[in-house]
Amino acid sequence: MSHSAQRLGVVAESAPGETRVAATPATVAQLVSLGYEVIVEKGAGGRSGFTDDAYARTGARIAGREETWDADVVLKVNAPSADETAALREGATLVSLIGPAANADLVDALARRPITVLAMDAVPRVSRAQSLDVLSSMANIAGYRAVIEAAHAFGRLFTGQVTAAGKVPPAKVLVAGAGVAGLAAIATATSLGAIVRATDPRPEVAEQVRSLGAEFLDVGVAQETSTDGYARETSRDYDRRAAEMYAEQAADVDIVITTALIPGRPAPRLLTAEHVARIRPGSVVVDMAAAQGGNVEGTRPGEAVVTENGVTIIGYTDLAGRLPAQASQLYGTNVVNLMKLLTPGMDGRLVLDFDDVVQRAMTVVRDGEKTWPPPPVPVSAAPAAPATPAAPVRGTAAAPSGRPPSPPGRRRHLVTAAVAAALFLLTAFSPNTLIEHVTVFVLSIVIGYYVIGNVHHALHTPLMSITNAISGIIVVGALLQIGQGDTVVAVLSFIAILLASINIVGGFAVTRRMLGMFTRS
Ligand code: NAI
Repeated sequence: MSHSAQRLGVVAESAPGETRVAATPATVAQLVSLGYEVIVEKGAGGRSGFTDDAYARTGARIAGREETWDADVVLKVNAPSADETAALREGATLVSLIGPAANADLVDALARRPITVLAMDAVPRVSRAQSLDVLSSMANIAGYRAVIEAAHAFGRLFTGQVTAAGKVPPAKVLVAGAGVAGLAAIATATSLGAIVRATDPRPEVAEQVRSLGAEFLDVGVAQETSTDGYARETSRDYDRRAAEMYAEQAADVDIVITTALIPGRPAPRLLTAEHVARIRPGSVVVDMAAAQGGNVEGTRPGEAVVTENGVTIIGYTDLAGRLPAQASQLYGTNVVNLMKLLTPGMDGRLVLDFDDVVQRAMTVVRDGEKTWPPPPVPVSAAPAAPATPAAPVRGTAAAPSGRPPSPPGRRRHLVTAAVAAALFLLTAFSPNTLIEHVTVFVLSIVIGYYVIGNVHHALHTPLMSITNAISGIIVVGALLQIGQGDTVVAVLSFIAILLASINIVGGFAVTRRMLGMFTRS
């Protein structure tokens, strides 16, 4: 099989200041296990702290620039320059960030070459594609780093303390926009001991904000719900009320982190110069949307500026890259998950399937033909129904809705009729005691179905402990029955003991795994 394996080239990034790399030694091992021959450009991982030797140890061959760019599939972080595009071989596939919506000229230039281009930043927001979603993994790291940058520039502690030298109040942090980056910033700031507040026009995120230990500030003006997992533009009424809230908060908080984004639009302006003027000296604002024009008046992209009233406004646009080893690891894992999707045979051969909405959405050029923009993805990342709780992370509540509803009506009717007939026969020909038991059994199924079916996902673990208790009762009941001498009863009791025991042991095993996630190794 190896003679037909394609070559994957991991090239070094040429953009000044870029610290990331599209594969780490750990992800190279995963790419090799998909059957590919992996070559890594000399020094490609240097700025992320990965040596050539480390790549070689996990199965890559280290090669020069020309050879790596000549690979069948080129893996990269940033979009290629004109020279780099020219260096791709005919029929090659390029996987990198492209930003197709904002870079029409680049897409046209790529389509002039006989190549295929997959944009890592064009992953649709559906649950199935979450494992490839680079924007989420980078925003998550960036949200964390935004708080670290703020803490670094802030001349005080985040956590409150009572010391012999005096009392230190906890820092107050406001996070505007509770998407992926915002939620990461909230989690980081609360874990540093700050008092955290957050706001977002999407009311469904309130629960997530609170579950991270922060207070949700509701602007109090209802917004249209989105159907694609992204926010809609806010109404004038909303913006006016939000501006009042920011004026109030600006005078009270020490740190502001803004992450507001509406795709395809310039960043919404949340804090005006008047708001910034109300912030206390020594406070820090991190404007994560600096690259899209900024949520804060006075932000300079890529810089930290200090205002006249002594407020530091940080507009760094490379927050994820400031944690290069971590960012490369997550980017690399997203790339591996994409390659798994593109390598159905696990044989080192890339197969692009245009019937798959995820692959279709990411492909901006196919064999020299421009395929951007893709047809709209028929999915909804919004809550499925008003009663359904919000998605915990982008897209998790969504299910592809392109297919017709699955339960075939006829078969369902047949099953219902069969069950009804069986119940009729049972009640007609069996002793009264059995009928009583069957009635209780059927009622329990109906009540159980509705009660458990409506339990929020987050409560499934406590629910499991209750089912364990029920399983325990079943085991006791079955043990009392098993020695009665009747073979049928003995067999049924044995099956009951077996199934209930599996449930109990399984419950403990899952609990143990979950607890394991919280212990430090
Ligand atoms: P996201 O789409 O998950 O979240 C954006 C949030 O902003 C949404 O929850 C949305 O409801 C909210 N929002 C929209 N309009 C708002 C308004 N008027 N007021 C308050 N909130 C509003 O986006 P994600 O992935 O969290 O990214 C956030 C921002 O961070 C983006 O601008 C992104 O480009 C930027 N980013 C910056 C990085 C850097 O290095 N500076 C790195 C990664 C992301």
